Amino acid sequence: MKIEFSQTNPANAKLVARIADKGAMPAGLETSLAEGAKTARFKGNPGQVFEGFVERGGSVVRAAIAGAGDPKGSDRRTGLEKAGAALTAKFLTSGETSMVLDLSDSGLSANEAASVLLGLRLRSWRHDEYRTKLKEEQKITLSSVTVTGAPEGTEATWADAAAVATGVEFTRHLVAEPANKVFPLSFVAKCQEKFAGTGAELIVLDDDQMAELGMHSLLGVGLGSEQPSRILAIRWNGGDVGAKPMCFVGKGVTFDTGGISLKPGAGMEDMKWDMGGAGAVAGAMLALVTRKAKANIVGVMGLVENMPDGKAQRPGDVVTSMNGQTIEVINTDAEGRLVLCDALHWAQQEFSPLAIIDFATLTGAIIIALGNEYAGMYSNDDDLAAKLDAAGKASGDHLWRMPLAPAYDKLIDSPIADMKNVGPRGAGSITAAQFLQRFIAKGTPWAHCDIAGMAWADKAGVTWDKGATGYGVRLMDQYIRDTLEN
Ligand code: BES
Ligand code: MN
Ligand code: ZN
Repeated sequence: MKIEFSQTNPANAKLVARIADKGAMPAGLETSLAEGAKTARFKGNPGQVFEGFVERGGSVVRAAIAGAGDPKGSDRRTGLEKAGAALTAKFLTSGETSMVLDLSDSGLSANEAASVLLGLRLRSWRHDEYRTKLKEEQKITLSSVTVTGAPEGTEATWADAAAVATGVEFTRHLVAEPANKVFPLSFVAKCQEKFAGTGAELIVLDDDQMAELGMHSLLGVGLGSEQPSRILAIRWNGGDVGAKPMCFVGKGVTFDTGGISLKPGAGMEDMKWDMGGAGAVAGAMLALVTRKAKANIVGVMGLVENMPDGKAQRPGDVVTSMNGQTIEVINTDAEGRLVLCDALHWAQQEFSPLAIIDFATLTGAIIIALGNEYAGMYSNDDDLAAKLDAAGKASGDHLWRMPLAPAYDKLIDSPIADMKNVGPRGAGSITAAQFLQRFIAKGTPWAHCDIAGMAWADKAGVTWDKGATGYGVRLMDQYIRDTLEN
């Protein structure tokens, strides 16, 4: 979706949209529109859209009004995003190719206008690559939006928000692509292409280099796959020279069959998005790099495919991780933690980060606990947890803090190795977090976000259609803004 700004109202616009707060109508509406909206019980509620036809300058114009909700409400940003998103959702396949968004007299600030545009753009993303038989009326027609009467400063705030949208879209692409298209090598190649010429540095570790480093926990997960495993790090130095970086780490299991502890067939196709953590980290890095964030940041992704095979690891196998701790692999389907522990250790050793936050579609248990509304967040540091929580609220990528405690930690002691990779049935998301915590060096602030319920949506949400949501990109971007760029 192309978004442009114009001083004047384009002549012969066929579709013109305006934004209305709850209980207030845009000024200067034709009587038929104002009355029509009233009759249709349009109240300006967030995401509500009224559409009418009026004659302007001798031609018939399709006029839309989108509701943004209560301007004094606690969640203004969401209301504005919903207004923009509702317009795209309504007109994306309407036959119209362009829309004028008239913000004159809207009373919006530049930031608020950018929120409308972000909603508009994010809701326009679709993954149609493989749909060769779409009917005409199913195809996207709307390709450009011309914003007129934008409040002063909107173009600059939008340039910033557009970078974030670019990141979210990249994440959605990586997550939505099937596992025969996105596997460790192609994930890396896609990033190399995306980040070429941006000034970001990409570091790739292949199997031999990982073996050399002793990452046998991560490598064990990939043993049953024909696809080689990779570690990818994307580094951006936009902050003070020599200042320690913030580090994000993502679980990138490009397909999770469960391995020898094979998952049931029904729904297994969902496990193509088991790289949602790595996808979020790649997208967040793209957002930060695109808007040239004034901060040092590194994103580390552990990329592996989990398959059953004659070479696959078995339940009961013991592997030695990079930091020397040994793990009894009770269940080869608890593979995310096996990938992350080596990625987390390597990231700490390689980059000495200020703090480290990982993102992973780690457990079904977190979906049982929190459903699809909040990601589960675990942290060894109250300050980091509070800042992350605040960034969640501000960005709309919500988090709910969950507990860590020695009593849970005991549940993963093993009789044969330092730990086992699963605990009992209860507290499944917590014991997974406890496992990861065993790989965090003392004194390093760390948070783990279990995003299993958030990376993919079965129904449309605020700024996404069903499918890949791009969860995490806005959260990481917001966290960097709040903590390193202020
Ligand atoms: N990738 C899954 C977790 C998952 C489940 C993500 C559903 C998204 C939707 C993970 O690797 C896994 O299989 N976890 C197991 C852990 C168990 C074996 C201890 C789970 O949650 O069942
Ligand atoms: Mn698994
Ligand atoms: Zn998994």
